[in-house]
Amino acid sequence: MNFTDQEIAKESTRLFEKLQHVGWSEPDCQLIAPLTLEINQLKKKRNAVILAHSYQTPDIMYGVADYLGDSYALSMRARETTANIIVFSSVYFMAETAKILNPQKTVLVPAIAGCSLADSITADDVRGLRKAHSNAAVVTYINTTAEVKAESDVVCTSGNALKIIEGMRENEIIFIPDEFMAKNLQPLTKKKLTPWKGRCIVHEEFSSEAVKEIRQEYPQAKILAHSECAPSVIKEADMMGSTEQMLRYVDTSDADVFMLATECGLSDRVRTEKPGKKIVGSCALCPYMKKIMLKDILQCLQSPRPEQIVELPKDIIKKAQKALNKMIKIVSL
Ligand code: 13P
Ligand code: SF4
Repeated sequence: MNFTDQEIAKESTRLFEKLQHVGWSEPDCQLIAPLTLEINQLKKKRNAVILAHSYQTPDIMYGVADYLGDSYALSMRARETTANIIVFSSVYFMAETAKILNPQKTVLVPAIAGCSLADSITADDVRGLRKAHSNAAVVTYINTTAEVKAESDVVCTSGNALKIIEGMRENEIIFIPDEFMAKNLQPLTKKKLTPWKGRCIVHEEFSSEAVKEIRQEYPQAKILAHSECAPSVIKEADMMGSTEQMLRYVDTSDADVFMLATECGLSDRVRTEKPGKKIVGSCALCPYMKKIMLKDILQCLQSPRPEQIVELPKDIIKKAQKALNKMIKIVSL
């Protein structure tokens, strides 16, 4: 598609206003402007919506995304959208969740991106756990495949896990697949949680030593940690939660220095959207989330390859929908 110099200049200015906060130069923005223009034009023409997780790169988040959010907020957007096509700029399990919640839509993924948690457990494993703990309810973190969700009683996200656990009538809970999240939640509930051995390879990189160093160097800093971090990290943090809850904390806190023990995309969001707040310490990159690039979004909107169209068996959709709808019901109570 051909755009005029004036259109490209206007688009680069729009991009630069946002991306300068995360180190992009004006020439960088000029370079991607034709791409974001084309994606945004095609998006309108095809009645598509682009949902992007907060761990996506800033050119995607501020160039083409219609909505940014955590896994719960994006799932709700997918469920409610009136667009014909959902382009899910994130890891595969989130796109599958969109398909389960709104099966008549076409759901596209720009790249096939896994997740170490989703890869850590199979539907067979869940059936085995059920056999071994017959009185327990299966509470499954959303970072799992559709097949695993279909074997579960209820799904939860990092933002509502405790509410979901408390909302189940069973006192024994098989909490899968994030071992650290189960261990972080155990002291907050009287119910008995049986964990699985899944780990997030990104959040397990954070150490309590690194957090303590930041505390010493910046005593005024608030330290926020994602609930996928190790219990020793959570112990040192001022707050534990989902990416959305971490953003809200930054937004409403009087403090102006923060460490975010999570993926780097979230620090990019704070730097861009709340330039008055300072981020210290290091973040970690998710190799799965960072697989997705602007050019992939354009390609899948132009002509998706078969593997970029999310399709699921009807019985899996039906069973997984039940577990997701139960989460939505408990959240609304
Ligand atoms: P959130 O739902 O908190 O955004 O978490 C998703 C995720 O993959 C964290 O690693
Ligand atoms: Fe999965 Fe961890 Fe990446 Fe989130 S950050 S998508 S849990 S590997």
